[in-house]
Amino acid sequence: MVRHMFSHLVLLWSLALDLSITGLTYHKPKEGSWNNQSLFSVPVDLDVRLRRLDLSNNFIRQLHTLALPYLEQLDLSSNQLDLIFEGAFENLARLEELNLSRNALNNNFGSNTKAFRSISRLRSLDISMNGLSDDAVKLYLRNKPSLDQLKLTGNALTRLSHNLFKESKGLRSITIDDNQISVIEKGTFEPLYQLEMLNLARNNLANICDFKLHQLKYLNLSRNSVEFFVTLEDNHLYRLEILDLSHNKLIYFPIVPKMNSLKYLYLQNNMVGALNSEATMVSEVNALYREIMRERTVTKNNLHSNWRLMPLIYIDLSYNHFRSFPLETLSLLSSLQTLNFSNNCLQTIVWNIRNHSESGYHRQLVFPSLKYLDLQSNGLVSVSPFFLKALTQIETLNLQDNSVQPCSTLEDLEISQTIQQIHLNTSCVHFGQLRTLKHLNLRENNVTVLRQNTFKETSLISLNLARNPHMVMQAGALEDVQKTLESLIISDTNITSSDLFIPFMPALTHLKISNNHLDLIPNSLSYSPLRELDIRNNNFKSLNHSLIIALSLSLKRMYISNNNFNCCDSKWLSRLHELKINLPDINDTVCFTSDGYVGMTEYLKNPAVPCLFHTKAQEIHIGQIIVVFLFVTVLITVLIVFTRKLCCSQESFLV
Ligand SMILES: *[C@@H]1O[C@H](CO)[C@@H](O)[C@H](O)[C@H]1NC(C)=O
Ligand SMILES: *[C@@H]1O[C@H](CO)[C@@H](O)[C@H](O)[C@H]1NC(C)=O
Ligand SMILES: *[C@@H]1O[C@H](CO)[C@@H](O)[C@H](O)[C@H]1NC(C)=O
Ligand SMILES: *[C@@H]1O[C@H](CO)[C@@H](O)[C@H](O)[C@H]1NC(C)=O
Ligand SMILES: *[C@@H]1O[C@H](CO)[C@@H](O)[C@H](O)[C@H]1NC(C)=O
Ligand SMILES: *[C@@H]1O[C@H](CO)[C@@H](O)[C@H](O)[C@H]1NC(C)=O
Ligand SMILES: *[C@@H]1O[C@H](CO)[C@@H](O)[C@H](O)[C@H]1NC(C)=O
Ligand SMILES: *[C@@H]1O[C@H](CO)[C@@H](O)[C@H](O)[C@H]1NC(C)=O
Ligand SMILES: *[C@@H]1O[C@H](CO)[C@@H](O)[C@H](O)[C@H]1NC(C)=O
Ligand SMILES: *[C@@H]1O[C@H](CO)[C@@H](O)[C@H](O)[C@H]1NC(C)=O
Repeated sequence: MVRHMFSHLVLLWSLALDLSITGLTYHKPKEGSWNNQSLFSVPVDLDVRLRRLDLSNNFIRQLHTLALPYLEQLDLSSNQLDLIFEGAFENLARLEELNLSRNALNNNFGSNTKAFRSISRLRSLDISMNGLSDDAVKLYLRNKPSLDQLKLTGNALTRLSHNLFKESKGLRSITIDDNQISVIEKGTFEPLYQLEMLNLARNNLANICDFKLHQLKYLNLSRNSVEFFVTLEDNHLYRLEILDLSHNKLIYFPIVPKMNSLKYLYLQNNMVGALNSEATMVSEVNALYREIMRERTVTKNNLHSNWRLMPLIYIDLSYNHFRSFPLETLSLLSSLQTLNFSNNCLQTIVWNIRNHSESGYHRQLVFPSLKYLDLQSNGLVSVSPFFLKALTQIETLNLQDNSVQPCSTLEDLEISQTIQQIHLNTSCVHFGQLRTLKHLNLRENNVTVLRQNTFKETSLISLNLARNPHMVMQAGALEDVQKTLESLIISDTNITSSDLFIPFMPALTHLKISNNHLDLIPNSLSYSPLRELDIRNNNFKSLNHSLIIALSLSLKRMYISNNNFNCCDSKWLSRLHELKINLPDINDTVCFTSDGYVGMTEYLKNPAVPCLFHTKAQEIHIGQIIVVFLFVTVLITVLIVFTRKLCCSQESFLV
């Protein structure tokens, strides 16, 4: 009887347990982590209720049967696994995510793959870095109908065959970067109707002759040897949004699907533009297209007709071989917001577009959405005013490391009135034309003169003039932007205080005037809400105390090292210190006293000491002399009186 009741109790208890597993505790999955515990085998006393098990970063070499009926996620990455026993996964009925990356599954793959066949519910599988060959991968992927995400990074695949994924047609994301793939058979990816993300970066793919994955949203072909990318024109809508063809050997722009959704196109580090002119490139790529498609109809400009429909917002063309700016092709991209054209070899941007008709009028193309243009490191000397006129929405222009000279407005005025005339001064750039410009970088251009009115009509927020060591600033050069400028950099220009003209700037929050020959901060700055100030590497001996008090209302950070500060004239610094303004390089800052240089931090700890003697001595000197003089006088008088008395008494004594 008692026994009977007891067994009932046990049954009830185990039922309750089961309920709590499947029901109540479901939202709090049980986890076990043995990450990096120097384990050589799977622990034996694992809780059967585990849903997640992390055994990564150990030395496990063999996997025996795991009896974890509730396990959903298993991480065995970074072990030395080379043998999985046939029944190892049989009792893992709920396993959905398996990470076996960084193991040695290329060994024993005959028996290992048998074990794999029983985990058919798997949704995510990572078998990266296992030295797997084409055949091994094929076997590991058998019977995986639920697979959604697959990672095969860093294996030894050379060829993707059409039956590789035939038992996992639901794949949405495939990552096979860093292998040696040079062949992709027809029909490998086409049947994967859910496929959205495909990463084939770092392989040996040479050409993409016929791209037709309509469903794909992300394709990464970076770091292959792709020479051209061509899509057969059809009337399908392609969902591709991101295409990365960077670090390849492209000579031409890719021919993208006619109806596409491309937003981001990465073409940096290729050889596009190596052919002389834009026109040559366009006609050659179209000829190539006709050759690949065996089309006989001539004269259709496939490249342009497809690019015209592309909703691209970002294109990176940096590190290519452009010697002329591909005006016509790029102006087709009416949604383009960011264009990275840095590190090409432009030297000049001329407006040599074909005229529309016989009328002879200059065709004015525009870049109607372009906000960000990066032209850094192009050896640019001149930029056609027509080009600047086309930048109707430009906000950020990076011209760093070129050789452009800003024009002054007088020249500018002539231009806008006589825009039809070709007698333009192209040896300087007319920034006054860029009414929407907010951020201008002219660092390292060997700018020689910054004239008054250079920035007339602009409303710049940030301006970088650093590293123009011969720059002469005319007195009113910054007046046109004085109300809008928030950030100004005039470092490394060898400028002295008498040549630095900073007007009253009520919006300025960041100022960098490091690496110059300055010894005075312009008083006009006391009205700026400066938050960050950098005066490193100058000739400052001291800073104006009342200016510092004014600045301290807004100042958050200040860089001061490598100046010629006088310790005994550093009330300004104590002030900054008291106000707890961040001085990140204070430990590298020294000041001098008559005894030599002292670290600023040491000085601040005990501000009065090195200067006490000197200052007090000066103040006290005269007083001391008077006191000493008086003292001596009194002493002598007393002495005289005393000796007189003594003499007298002696006299009297003698007498
Ligand atoms: C593993 O643990 C060792 C010692 O505790 C530590 O030095 C090492 O960085 C850890 N490795 C990882 C990958 O966490
Ligand atoms: C598998 O584990 C590795 C680290 O060991 C990690 O980098 C990788 O992202 C994991 N894979 C998945 C699919 O989470
Ligand atoms: C493409 O892959 C490369 C190499 O792995 C990577 O650096 C790059 O960020 C990827 N591109 C995109 C757009 O994700
Ligand atoms: C443009 O490309 C250069 C070089 O690749 C890079 O340093 C820079 O950050 C890029 N600019 C933008 C806006 O992406
Ligand atoms: C286009 O027309 C203008 C004005 O007549 C002319 O100066 C220019 O040379 C023409 N450009 C080309 C490429 O034919
Ligand atoms: C053109 O601009 C350069 C550089 O600013 C200037 O030196 C030159 O005098 C200008 N030429 C004419 C004709 O205005
Ligand atoms: C920069 O300009 C100065 C003065 O115009 C000139 O002497 C110097 O050669 C130029 N430097 C370079 C690198 O072009
Ligand atoms: C700028 O000043 C430094 C230090 O005085 C000097 O070595 C350098 O030659 C100067 N550069 C120019 C271009 O004047
Ligand atoms: C110090 O700054 C104040 C206010 O900015 C100014 O009135 C004064 O003339 C300055 N003193 C010197 C010596 O520049
Ligand atoms: C300066 O050095 C002191 C002592 O070494 C250190 O506590 C402090 O954080 C340093 N300050 C900065 C701004 O690096």
